[in-house]
Amino acid sequence: MVWESVLEKFKELFGSEGEIGVYFAPGRVNMIGEHTDYNGGHVFPCALTIGTYGVARKRDDKKLRFYSMNFEQLGVLESSVEDLKPEKEADWTNYPKGVMWAFGEKGMKVEQGMDLVLFGNIPNGSGLSSSASVEVLTGFILRDMFGFDVTNQDLALIGQYSENKFNGVNCGIMDQFAIAMGKAGHAIFLDTATLQYEYAPIKLENAKIVISCSNKKRGLGDSKYNERRSECERALAQMKEVIDIASLGDLTEEQFEQHKDAIKDEVCRKRAKHAVYENQRTIKAVEALKNNDVELFGKLMNESHVSLRDDYEVTGIELDTLVEEAWKIDGVIGSRMTGAGFGGCTVSIVKDASVDTFIKEVGAAYEKKIGYAADFYVVEIGDGPVKLA
Ligand code: GLA
Repeated sequence: MVWESVLEKFKELFGSEGEIGVYFAPGRVNMIGEHTDYNGGHVFPCALTIGTYGVARKRDDKKLRFYSMNFEQLGVLESSVEDLKPEKEADWTNYPKGVMWAFGEKGMKVEQGMDLVLFGNIPNGSGLSSSASVEVLTGFILRDMFGFDVTNQDLALIGQYSENKFNGVNCGIMDQFAIAMGKAGHAIFLDTATLQYEYAPIKLENAKIVISCSNKKRGLGDSKYNERRSECERALAQMKEVIDIASLGDLTEEQFEQHKDAIKDEVCRKRAKHAVYENQRTIKAVEALKNNDVELFGKLMNESHVSLRDDYEVTGIELDTLVEEAWKIDGVIGSRMTGAGFGGCTVSIVKDASVDTFIKEVGAAYEKKIGYAADFYVVEIGDGPVKLA
C-alpha cells in the first residue's frame, strides 16, 4: 500500500505518538468541456484512482511542519497558522497554507498547527490537478481534525477560493469539484453556472481511458490562462450589449452566430466561439454517452481538440503531436488535450486491443518529433477524498 510508506515517513520525521490520520484525495481528468467552467458552461470530469496521500496530526501549538515526498530536497518546511499571508507561488506549501487561510476567511479560523507529510502519484504539473488534489485533501483533513461543518461541495469551493485569492490563479470550479465529489466509475456532468450536477456512468466496453503526458511542464500562474479568461470576459461584455445573457454558456451556437459581430476583436470572438461551441458539445457528448454511443462521444472529443487548437489556441506542438498521432491509430475512439493546456496531458479512449500499439507508436512518434519521451497511463475512475486510517 502506498499510504503505508507515507505513514512510515511521517513517523520517522515527526514521531509516532498521538492521533495520526491517513488520508487520500484523487487527481482528475476532464473528458470534455474545456475552458467552459469560468464561462458558465458545462464540464464532464472524473476523479482518478491516482492522487495525493496525506498523513497528518494536530499540534497543541501554532506551528506548521510540512514535508512532501515529491520535493524531498526541500526538507521539512516550517511556518505558523498565525503567519498565513497570501503570496505568489513560492513552494508547494502555499497550497495547504492557502486552504487554511481560506477556512479562516470563511469564519473557520484554524487555531492550532499540524504536522503533515504528503506524497502524490499524479505527475506534477501534468494537468491532472495535482494542486487541486492537495487543496481538497487539506480541506478534508481540516474538517476531520477540527470538526468544521462543511460539505464536500464546500471543500471544492474553499479550494477554488484559496487558489484564486491566495495563489493568484483565476481557475474555475471544475478541478476542485471533480476531486471533492468524485465517484468511482462515473464522470460528473456539472453545470458551472448553477453547480447542479449529475453522475454519468462511464461504461466503456472493450476500451480504456489512456492519459498521455507530454512532460511539458505548465504552471497555471505563468501560463496564458488568466489572459484567456479576460478575453472571454471582454467578449461577454460586448455580447451583453446585444443579447440578455449572464454568461457565454447561456448561448446556443445559433445565437452566437447571429450576434457574434458584437464582439469587435477577432481574437476575443474566436475565444467566445470556443466557449459556446464547447459547452454545446459537452451537452451533446453526455447525451451520446447516455445513448451508449461511444463513437459519437469520441468524435466530439476530437472536435473539442480542434477547437482548443484553432480557436482557443491553448494546445501547442506537444499536445497537438500526441493527439494527431493518436488519431492515426486504429482503435482510437477519441483523443483530445485535457485541462488548461499549454503542456500537460491528453486523454484518449482506446480499444483494449489497441492500447499497446497506441503507447508504442504514439510514444515513438512523439519522441522523434519533440526530442524527449511522453509517459502513458491507463487510468481508472475513482472516488472522492477518503480517510484511510
Ligand atoms: C484548469 C482550471 C479549471 C479549468 C481548466 C480548463 O484545470 O483549474 O478550472 O478552467 O483549466 O478547462
